[in-house]
Amino acid sequence: MSRELDRRVFLGAAGVAFTNTTPMAQAHDESASKPVRLGVIGVGGRGTNLLQIALGLGGVEIAALCDIDKQRIAVGQDLVVSSGGKKPEGYTGEEDYKKLVARDDLDAVIIATPWELHTPMGVASMRAGKYTAIEVPAALNIEQCWELVNTQESTGAPCMMLENWSFRRDNLAVLKMIRAGLLGEINHCHCAHSHDCIEEWWFKKDGTPRWGGEHLFTRNADQYTTHALGPVLSWLDLNNGDYPAYLTSTATRSISIPAHYAKKFGPNHPLAKRQYKQADIVTSVFKTIKGNTIVVNYDMQSPRPYDNRWEISGTNGIYNEQRASVYIDGRSPKFEQWESFAPYQKEFDHSWYKRLDALGTGRVNSEIAHGGPDYIELMLFRDACREKKPVPIDIYDSVLLCAHIELSEKSIANGSAPVAFPDFTRGRWKTRKPYFALEG
Ligand SMILES: NC(=O)c1ccc[n+]([C@@H]2O[C@H](COP(=O)([O-])OP(=O)(O)OC[C@H]3O[C@@H](n4cnc5c(N)ncnc54)[C@H](O)[C@@H]3O)[C@@H](O)[C@H]2O)c1
Repeated sequence: MSRELDRRVFLGAAGVAFTNTTPMAQAHDESASKPVRLGVIGVGGRGTNLLQIALGLGGVEIAALCDIDKQRIAVGQDLVVSSGGKKPEGYTGEEDYKKLVARDDLDAVIIATPWELHTPMGVASMRAGKYTAIEVPAALNIEQCWELVNTQESTGAPCMMLENWSFRRDNLAVLKMIRAGLLGEINHCHCAHSHDCIEEWWFKKDGTPRWGGEHLFTRNADQYTTHALGPVLSWLDLNNGDYPAYLTSTATRSISIPAHYAKKFGPNHPLAKRQYKQADIVTSVFKTIKGNTIVVNYDMQSPRPYDNRWEISGTNGIYNEQRASVYIDGRSPKFEQWESFAPYQKEFDHSWYKRLDALGTGRVNSEIAHGGPDYIELMLFRDACREKKPVPIDIYDSVLLCAHIELSEKSIANGSAPVAFPDFTRGRWKTRKPYFALEG
């Protein structure tokens, strides 16, 4: 089903009607009387943050929580009760998510479980007719990408991946600058996900793999593509007039994790000798059908500060996130010299942030929300559920951000050979119009 069809009134699998007719004014009323009834599957680190963010936003009722860890459920239930809500029902079995999604008193489901559960849980939620939000990455391979697309199309239940970096204040300002033509015609972009996750995420302090770390033994790929590529998708109008034709991916040796444990426990410790399939750094180059290029780095096991290295350039200028600078031909004061991005941020600030700022610091805790974008994504998801309108990132954009995982794996395994992107829109990228973050 196309996005245009998606906008029309239709019936989901459970007979839930989704329309796009509710007046926009309601979207600006944060405490609208009819709360959106949410269920959350997976209330670990991220799920708990999302729960806190939803409670801070208001306009939601948390009716059910699901996690195989009873303690996590109890923490979530306490958060809801201490915010003045009714204690949500808890589901604790491995397959209990099926019971949660089947509840007829839920409007929407948020999924924040380990990666391999995202697609099956998202599919179950859509089949139950629920608005569905899935943490990143929504899919781990091309088969799962298609499963999500096919289920969304057959049920009509709106589904978005919660790619929060698409909602970053600076990235949205850059999008507005691009749309205003400041960079001219875009032809190149660079992005990365550089984050030392060895002890933050992949492994426990003693070196035992967490669920994420298990993937490093079995795959050699860009395993975490979506944060780097999220904003790039709309900067380059991918899925809306342009489409990635193919990519090539090249991987380094895998030496950083053993080096980390050698420093920590000594060179003869078994953890200093453990082997990984996953390379330290993967560099992928996309070529789009229009002829643009994108360089993407996976870099999540090196000792280094967090970095996304976004840079985008066109026929009239360039934006560089690391320098927080731009150069705009004919506008920047000094020839070939960077100028600060700060005045551009002010001039091109997205109106979504005015809504966030209006909520005030009493409701917004930026420490749990990466400074703000996580509030924006959930605010828009909540509004979409309440008004029965499309979600802010549709299923085609969600899966395109994930396809790179398997495609990079194939390219690396075949000596950096080009690998073609499947067309999840079935040709509609040629006529689809940009929809993300439009104002007014
Ligand atoms: N967007 C972001 O900025 C961001 C940040 C962190 C994590 N994430 C994503 O969030 C997801 C969760 O990551 P995390 O760090 O919270 O992991 P986590 O391990 O802290 O949480 C996962 C939770 O899922 C639960 N779970 C496992 N199997 C389950 C099942 N069958 N049914 C119900 N619950 C089950 C676990 O018990 C755990 O509480 C991942 O996909 C990750 O990529 C996104």
